Amino acid sequence: MTPDAELANLDGRVPLGKTGITISPLGIGTWQWGDRFTWDYGRGGFSDADLQASYQACVTQGINFFDTAEVYGRGQSERLLGKFSRADGREVVIATKFMPFPWRVSRSELLKALKGSLARLGLPRVDLYQIHWPMPPHSTRFWVEALGDAMQSGLARAVGVSNYSREQTLRAHDLLTRQGIPLASNQVRFSLLDRKAERNGLLQACRERGITLIAYSPLAQGLLTGKYTLQQPLTGDRRRRLGRYLAPVQPLITLLRSMGEARDGKTPAQVALNWVVAKGAVPIPGAKNARQAQENLGALGWQLTQDEIAILDQASADIS
Ligand SMILES: NC(=O)c1ccc[n+]([C@@H]2O[C@H](COP(=O)([O-])OP(=O)(O)OC[C@H]3O[C@@H](n4cnc5c(N)ncnc54)[C@H](OP(=O)(O)O)[C@@H]3O)[C@@H](O)[C@H]2O)c1
Repeated sequence: MTPDAELANLDGRVPLGKTGITISPLGIGTWQWGDRFTWDYGRGGFSDADLQASYQACVTQGINFFDTAEVYGRGQSERLLGKFSRADGREVVIATKFMPFPWRVSRSELLKALKGSLARLGLPRVDLYQIHWPMPPHSTRFWVEALGDAMQSGLARAVGVSNYSREQTLRAHDLLTRQGIPLASNQVRFSLLDRKAERNGLLQACRERGITLIAYSPLAQGLLTGKYTLQQPLTGDRRRRLGRYLAPVQPLITLLRSMGEARDGKTPAQVALNWVVAKGAVPIPGAKNARQAQENLGALGWQLTQDEIAILDQASADIS
């Protein structure tokens, strides 16, 4: 068992950085909930009822961590998440994000945006408030100090960043530490098809400082489920960005499938998500319906062996 897997205690809760907040070892991403451009919301064969059913499937099985952003569906994702969680009533940990658009010139824009997110979510405060991207023209310091304002205001229980490099993460961590605030997390793309965070030392740096690495696109936007093939390709925006992986990923899918079959019929998606957990990150797969969510939850409660992880590392090395 890896130390990280031990820490995760798979069925239980893991710490969200050093914030005192605990989350399920797998969360749910909600970019799909309102986004038309990439995810075909409103015309892609899934309805708000499907999304609510996926929410219910998650909380019923103990998932308490949900990730959204002000930009997802122009606020629709936050609205739906707030609505579903109020209707259900169980306590969950909600993370949302601030986009530092270049036209947001003053530091007070962050608090203003946070209040907008809270209004859409219908919450008095959010559990985790993240800077979505490190975006010019402002420095890391500028927006990280604004995160400090969010903590001071009491409108956020914890703060994090997203898409920050190793150096930017360390800088954010140091700046916040000086104010007595832990940097809870950095949310980056991390999967068997994108292992940059492992290679460039970000994952290790986060582990050493008790910063949670939240893994987005842990299924490579559906590719690692094995349902997309040369005969059944991705469409739209995903085809343009990920189409080149369709052929080279197939041997890895075959391996995920055979490894899963040897483990009581686990699916490629479940094995791929378990690999992320084994690396010490918290995956937040998106799901369009209860079936997908349910399947993804089957990534918890068991562990790949060190040998299996090494085989997957090897098989993904050339395409990640
Ligand atoms: N911070 C950032 O910059 C950033 C960027 C991207 C994402 N995120 C966050 O991370 C979350 C997850 O990333 P993601 O949505 O990009 O990618 P992902 O989780 O890798 O893929 C999600 C998509 O894969 C398909 N899928 C999921 N589970 C499945 C299953 N069991 N069987 C078959 N298909 C399945 C679904 O799409 P289809 O059915 O259409 O194939 C689903 O919408 C987002 O929702 C968002 O919260 C953050």
